[in-house]
This record gives sequence, C-alpha cells and structure tokens, in this order.
Amino acid sequence: MNLNRVSPGRHLSGKCFAWAIAMVLMLAGAAQGQPDSAGGPDSSGSWKPVKSPTPPPAAPASDDGMLQTVLMVAGAIVALVVVVLVVRILMKKMKEHAGSSADPVTPDRGVVLNGFRFQNHISTGQSSQVWEVVEGHSGRHFAMKTLLPEKAREADMRQFLFHEAEVGRELAHPNIIRIVKVDHSKHNPNFIMEFFPSGSLKLKIMHKHMDFIREHGHSILKQAATALAFMNAKGWLHRDIKPDNILVNASGEVRIIDFALARRIRTGFGLFRKPKCQGTRSYMSPEQILCKRLDGRSDIYSFAAMAYEMVTGRPPFRGADSRDLLRKHLSEKPVSPEFHNPQVTKEFADFLLRMLAKKKEERPKDFHEVLMKLKTISVFKGQKVQAGAS
Ligand SMILES: Nc1ncnc2c1ncn2[C@@H]1O[C@H](COP(=O)(O)OP(=O)(O)O)[C@@H](O)[C@H]1O
Ligand SMILES: [Mg+2]
Repeated sequence: MNLNRVSPGRHLSGKCFAWAIAMVLMLAGAAQGQPDSAGGPDSSGSWKPVKSPTPPPAAPASDDGMLQTVLMVAGAIVALVVVVLVVRILMKKMKEHAGSSADPVTPDRGVVLNGFRFQNHISTGQSSQVWEVVEGHSGRHFAMKTLLPEKAREADMRQFLFHEAEVGRELAHPNIIRIVKVDHSKHNPNFIMEFFPSGSLKLKIMHKHMDFIREHGHSILKQAATALAFMNAKGWLHRDIKPDNILVNASGEVRIIDFALARRIRTGFGLFRKPKCQGTRSYMSPEQILCKRLDGRSDIYSFAAMAYEMVTGRPPFRGADSRDLLRKHLSEKPVSPEFHNPQVTKEFADFLLRMLAKKKEERPKDFHEVLMKLKTISVFKGQKVQAGAS
C-alpha cells in the first residue's frame, strides 16, 4: 500500500450513485414487466421455456393496481436507501484506509495519515520529525511529531515517543503544548499536538531579534516559570529546558515542548533507583551531569542558562569540547550577563547567577520563588517592573 495522496471518495461516490439508479430502474422494471405466469417446472417436473410476456388486456383502474404501484415505489425507495447506506459505509471504510496506520507511511507534503494531511515540514531531529498537518474533516491545523522510519522500527524509540506524549497529556496548562492524540501503531508511531506557529526562542536568539526579546523577554520568562512551577508541582521534571524547547509566537506567548527526557521527581522507594544521565550539555545542571538524584532546582538551573542565553545571545558556558563544557558547569563561575549585555539590570544579572549556583541549596527553592522574584525586578534597564501575570 502506498502513499494515499488523495482520498478516492469522489470517484467512488459517482460510481455508486450510478449503481443506485441502475438498481432502482431494475427493480421498477422487474415489478412492471412481471408476467402473470413465469416460467418454471410443470406438473411433470420438467422446465418450460418462459413465454414472452403479452401485455395484459386493458383493465379499468382498480384498488389492486394502486396497491401494486404503491408497493413498487416503496420498494424502489427502500432499495435506494439501502444502496446509499452501503455506499456511505464503503466510503467511510476507504477513507479510514487512506492513510491508516496499518502500513508504513513516509511523511511528505500531501500524504495523509490517520485523516491528517502533511502540510509543511517544520523540523527533523535525531529520531523524529515535526510537521504541520491539517485534519481532513475539520480543516484545522495541528503539529504531528512522528518517528523517522528507521527509528520507528526500534521498540525503545517508540516507547520514548509515547512517553513524551503521555507526559504532555498529563500536563494541561496554558503555557504547555497541548497533546491531542497518540497513535501507538508500530509502523507510524506519532502524536498530534496543538500547532503553535512562529518557532522557538532559539530562533529569536539566533536571528538577534533583540527588540522582540527586550519587549517580551520578561513575560517569556514568567510564562515559562509558571509552566515549570506547574510541571514540578505535578511531580515531573522537564530535564531539557533550553531555548529550542520554548516556543514563542509573534505576540510573545509561550508554550513549553519536548518532554522526551521528562522524569518523575523521585519519592519513596523511587529514591533508591539510579537516575539516567541525560540532557543537553549547554544547559545541564551540575547534579544532572553527575547523574545525581534531581529535583525542581535542576530545572531552575537550566531555566537560568536559557534566560542567560536569551539576554546575552550566548549560553553561560562554552567549551573547547564537550568535556571542557561539562567541567565548566561543575566548577567555573559564570561571567555576569551584564558583561555581555550592559542593558541587563544588576538585579536580574545577580538573580541569574544565583539560579546558576553549583550547589542546588543556594538556588531558589522552587519556581514559585523564581516567579515571586521575577515579579519584583526588571530584566532590561529602562523598563518598569511588570508585576502582571504575564
Ligand atoms: N506544537 C508545535 N507547533 C509548532 N512547531 C513545533 C511544535 N512542536 C515542535 N515544533 C517545532 O519543532 C522543533 C522540534 O520539536 P521538538 O519536540 O523539540 O523535537 P526534538 O525532539 O527534535 O527536539 C521545535 O523547535 C519547533 O520549532
Ligand atoms: Mg527539542
């Protein structure tokens, strides 16, 4: 089975309509042309040829005649209804089959999967792709994250993707991307989420949209911190907070994405399990690098590294190689963000450095504290403190 480019529905409906008409005509014809006596076995058991029907002598209209006509019309209507119903069921089945998960589908513009048409390719990562898709019956736009075909064959990779979707599903928050549907199929593992156009904070930083960052930076940080306070309070650590995983639209609204590395904050017996060492090097907390047990303060460190990059255009540390970079997270004091951008206020710079403390005990205790503080300071000089919700 291949690429399911267009739904065959229209073609089919024309054919079936012709069928329906033909059936009705046949029924009507059969009823009309019915001879008084049809061919059949005679009393001796042998078959007689059917006589060609001779028209019955004209008779005055009778109740019998009327009844026959009514029955004929009713029969035709019933036949038509049955045909239409069958056609509709067939069309539904064919639509479902167009892009069903039973066969591997290679994402491409115009291809349909589970009723969603691939519209625009957004990004390709190490194991997955993100596409803007359009839902066939509603015309609404969504984003689909789907495993690359070669990765979809690996059970581990599928579990990884489903884990990401399940975490997202648990977290209903205005600043966290909404996961709508998960397709657990083997051939086309994917999930559908709210489409949030405009790209990531990383893009804004890379393209040096400093005016935008100046205008919305404070609000972006508050929205991200609100979402993370919620996530941590629900018992989840994101573990991969970075500018790439913060989507920002043209009005400065924020959605946090990518829960692939999210893990439950360990409590009870979970405290004895050894955590896995995962993360993105430029934003990993010292305890994350050392594979220690994590709590919300690890996300605070990554949040600060992300904020540092947002206001200065560079992460707090750069290394000659990955070892060097990790070593700096563990033991080097970051340069104050004011050094890279004199427009950053001293209060905000000091607060960032506190969130980047090597020892988690020296950081704010949770995102609620981060939010309280953010409400009392401005990020850039010459700006009023924005105490509002966003
Ligand atoms: N819901 C979405 N709406 C719009 N763009 C999205 C959405 N989710 C992801 N993207 C885009 O795809 C990129 C990669 O998404 P992400 O989930 O972080 O994948 P990866 O696992 O490859 O890091 C994001 O940086 C963003 O540009
Ligand atoms: Mg990502």
